[in-house]
Amino acid sequence: MGTISACIFDLDGVVVDTAKYHYIAWKRIANDLGFDFTEEDNERLKGVSRMTSLDILLEIGGVKLDQETKLKLADKKNKNYLEYILKMTPEEILPGVKDFFKELKSKNIKIALGSASKNAMTILNQLELTNYFDAIVDGTHVSKAKPDPEVFLKGSELLKVTPANCVVFEDAEAGVEAAINGGMKCVGIGSPEVLGKANKVIPGFIGFSVAQLNF
Ligand code: BG6
Ligand code: MG
Repeated sequence: MGTISACIFDLDGVVVDTAKYHYIAWKRIANDLGFDFTEEDNERLKGVSRMTSLDILLEIGGVKLDQETKLKLADKKNKNYLEYILKMTPEEILPGVKDFFKELKSKNIKIALGSASKNAMTILNQLELTNYFDAIVDGTHVSKAKPDPEVFLKGSELLKVTPANCVVFEDAEAGVEAAINGGMKCVGIGSPEVLGKANKVIPGFIGFSVAQLNF
């Protein structure tokens, strides 16, 4: 087992369940355009950037739009989404996450964020978690989407920890691939069927501890 010096966390679906708010916000856009958008469709948007999410949504509805209209719609969706995330409280932090952060701090293991979201700072502030992070890399800092490892490699650079000594926590298949592509270990949060490429898959953080980072 290598030494684990840093843990890099995806945000949406790992630290907090924002998928339900993304869903309501995208559904409003779909309904305005005259088609339905189901929770099953929403699964395809997990871990995917805002503009790619819109492309998937429009493909589902069979709608073609020019770039300017698409940018306006993405902006409208984000305004819908902000209505919900600005009401979030620390009670929405997923179970076990904060205890695990505290354990990492007590063991001098660094904590970073590696998220595709451009709303990451807003969400961390709403959850009162910002101060736990030694480095934050989000959708405003990267140009290449997961499975490109850019977001995680930037995190390891900021922390000055070599990728082999980093563990990434991810709920999306593309995120697990990004971690592996970056030469990092990965713990999948969710089901082994989807996240089978991870070194370990757990359903959530309840009862999870540093002792289980034994790859
Ligand atoms: C990811 C989510 O973390 O962030 C995706 O899993 C989302 O569903 C993406 O599309 C971008 O988020 P935002 O907040 O920048 O629209
Ligand atoms: Mg995620």
